Amino acid sequence: MCGIVGAFSRKGAVLDGMLEGLRVLEYRGYDSCGVAVVEGEKVEIRRKVGRLTELEKLLADGALAGARIGVGHTRWATHGAPSDENAHPHSDGSGRLALVHNGIIENFLELRRELQAEGRVFTSETDTEVLSHLVGRELARGLKLVDAVRAALARVHGYYAIAVMSPADGGALVCARQGPPLVVATTADAAYLGSDVLALLPHTRDVVYLEDGDVAELAPGSLVVTNLAGQPLERHARRIDWDAEQASKAGYPHFMLKEIHEQPDVLARTAFDRILSASGDVSFEHGDWSDARLRSFERLQVIACGTALHAGMVAKYLIEQLVRLPVDLDYASEFRYREPVLVPRTLALAVSQSGETADTLAALRLARELGASTASICNVMGSTVVRESDATILTHAGPEIGVASTKAFVAQVVAAFLLAVRLGRARGTIDANGGRALLDELRRLRPRMEALLAPETIERVGAIARGHVDAKGFFFLGRGVNFPIALEGALKLKEISYVHAEGYAAGEMKHGPIALISKGMPIVVVNAPGSVADKVRSNLHEVKARGGHVISIGSDAASHELADESIDVPATIEPLSAVLNVIPLQLFAYHHALARGCDIDKPRNLAKSVTVE
Ligand code: F6R
Repeated sequence: MCGIVGAFSRKGAVLDGMLEGLRVLEYRGYDSCGVAVVEGEKVEIRRKVGRLTELEKLLADGALAGARIGVGHTRWATHGAPSDENAHPHSDGSGRLALVHNGIIENFLELRRELQAEGRVFTSETDTEVLSHLVGRELARGLKLVDAVRAALARVHGYYAIAVMSPADGGALVCARQGPPLVVATTADAAYLGSDVLALLPHTRDVVYLEDGDVAELAPGSLVVTNLAGQPLERHARRIDWDAEQASKAGYPHFMLKEIHEQPDVLARTAFDRILSASGDVSFEHGDWSDARLRSFERLQVIACGTALHAGMVAKYLIEQLVRLPVDLDYASEFRYREPVLVPRTLALAVSQSGETADTLAALRLARELGASTASICNVMGSTVVRESDATILTHAGPEIGVASTKAFVAQVVAAFLLAVRLGRARGTIDANGGRALLDELRRLRPRMEALLAPETIERVGAIARGHVDAKGFFFLGRGVNFPIALEGALKLKEISYVHAEGYAAGEMKHGPIALISKGMPIVVVNAPGSVADKVRSNLHEVKARGGHVISIGSDAASHELADESIDVPATIEPLSAVLNVIPLQLFAYHHALARGCDIDKPRNLAKSVTVE
C-alpha cells in the first residue's frame, strides 16, 4: 500500500537512486507517483498519474537531476481517485516542505476544516495533505522540521509512514512511523529511507527498522531516532542477507514467472538446513520451539489474509492430521472484530509474506491480549509480525515482487509442514521413523518440482489455459489438503486474469453452486491419491454429468481418465501433494492472464503489501 523513499546525500545527486527505489517499490501501489527535491531554498515537486515511466517523462528535462535531498512516492489510492493532484508528494503551498505518506489519517476531515478555517488552501482530495499543512503551520511558527513533524503528528489519529523534507537549515529530512513499515540507513556520505529494504539494498545492507512511534532525523552519516515526545531512542542496524540482484527479473518476462521457477530452490532454502535426519525432526532458529513449550498448547489459532490464509488452511489440515492438535483458522480481518474466544494455552500463528499486513498484525496483537502465545510464519526478517511474535519460522523465499504471491505461498506451506513434524515429534504423534519418512519425502519434492517446471509441462499448461481464454467463469474444486489449493488456484486466476473463478470444497458443490454449471464451463479439479481421492472423483462425475468441462490436475490417474483435459503431477504423499499441485495452477493463471493481455506483475486495483484495513 504505497511505497515511499527518501535520500539525503553529501556528495552525489539523489534523483536516479530514488527512481530506482520507487521502481522496486512499485509492487506496493502503482496508480500514480511523484518525487520532490530541494532546489536551493525551494522545494520542487513533480508528480503524475500512472506508472513510473510517466513520471520519468516529466523528469527527462534533467532540471532536478543534481538535487541532494529528496522524497518519492508510488501510490495505491485510498482517499481520492488516482490523479495528478492526488499523487504525492504533497505540500502546503509555501514551497518550504514536501511530504509523502503511506497509511490513513482517520481524523483528516476535522483537521482539514480546522486548517481551512485558518485560510489554508487544499488542492487534493487526500488525507495526506492535512499532514503537510500541519507540518507547514508548525514550520511557520519557527520550529525545526523534526519538531514540526512531532507537533503535527500529535494531532493525528490513524496510521502512517511519512517522510518530510525541507530546505530549511541547509536541508532536512525527517521520517516517522505508526503502523506501516519504514526502514532507514546511513552511509558515510548519505542517508536513505524506504518502505522496504529492497529500496535500500543498492546502497547498503545494514538497515534500521523503525518501530511504531519513532521519529527519525536523517542526514549524511547521521541518524537520530526519538519518540513523539522527543526522547532519544536506541535503534540498532541489522544486516540483510538479500541482495539487489534478487529483486530483478533475471531475464524472465515477468517477476511472477521468475518466482514460480524459483520454487524448487525456495523449498531447499526453507527446509533442508532445518531437517535433522538422524532424529527425524526439525529445528527452528527464532524463539522457543522446544518440546516442553510445544507440549503445553491445547489449541492453535491461525490468522492470515488471502494467499497466506490458504497456506494457513493447509497448515490446519496437516497439523490436525499429523499431530491431532485442534486448529482454528480465521481471516485476520474477521478475527479482529468477531470478539473471538481463545481457550487457555492457545498458540496464535500468523502467516504472512510481508509481515506488515495491517489485519494480520492487529489480529496477532489481539490474540496476545487474549492470552495466547504468538508465533509466525513470515518471509521478511525484521518485519513487524516477526518482531512481535514470540517465535518465528522464517520462509526463505527471498524478495517476492510479483503482486500475485507464488513462491511465498509454497514456502509457507513447506514451513507449515515442518511445523507439523516438529509438533508431532514434540507431542509424540510422530516417532523418529515417521519423522524421517515425512522429511525424506519433503526432500524428494525438489526434483519433482523441477520436473513440473520443465518446458513441456509449461507448454501443456499454457495450451490448456489459452484454450479457455474466453471462458466467463471457472470453478476450482478440491478436498482435504487440496481444498485450499483449489481456493488458491481460483484466487490467482481472479487476481491476474480478471475472470470470475470460484474455489470450492468439491463436496459442497451439490449444495448450491452446481446450479451454475452450464455446458462447457471449465471446472479445474485438484486431486491426489489418498483419503479423499474417490470422493473427489464422485464430485468430478457430478459436474461432468451437468456438462462441465473438467481439467484434472494432480497425480490421480483415475481422475485424469475421467477428465476432458489433464495435467499430471508427480506423485508424493497426500500431505505434500498441495506443494506440487499448486504449481500448475499458478502457471495456468499466468498463461491465462498472458493470453488476455493483462498486466501480470501489477494487476489492476491491487497492491502487494496491504497495510491498510
Ligand atoms: C495474493 C496475495 C495476497 C496476500 C495477502 C496477505 O496473491 O498476495 O492475498 O497473500 O494480502 O499478504 P501477506 O502474506 O503479506 O500478509
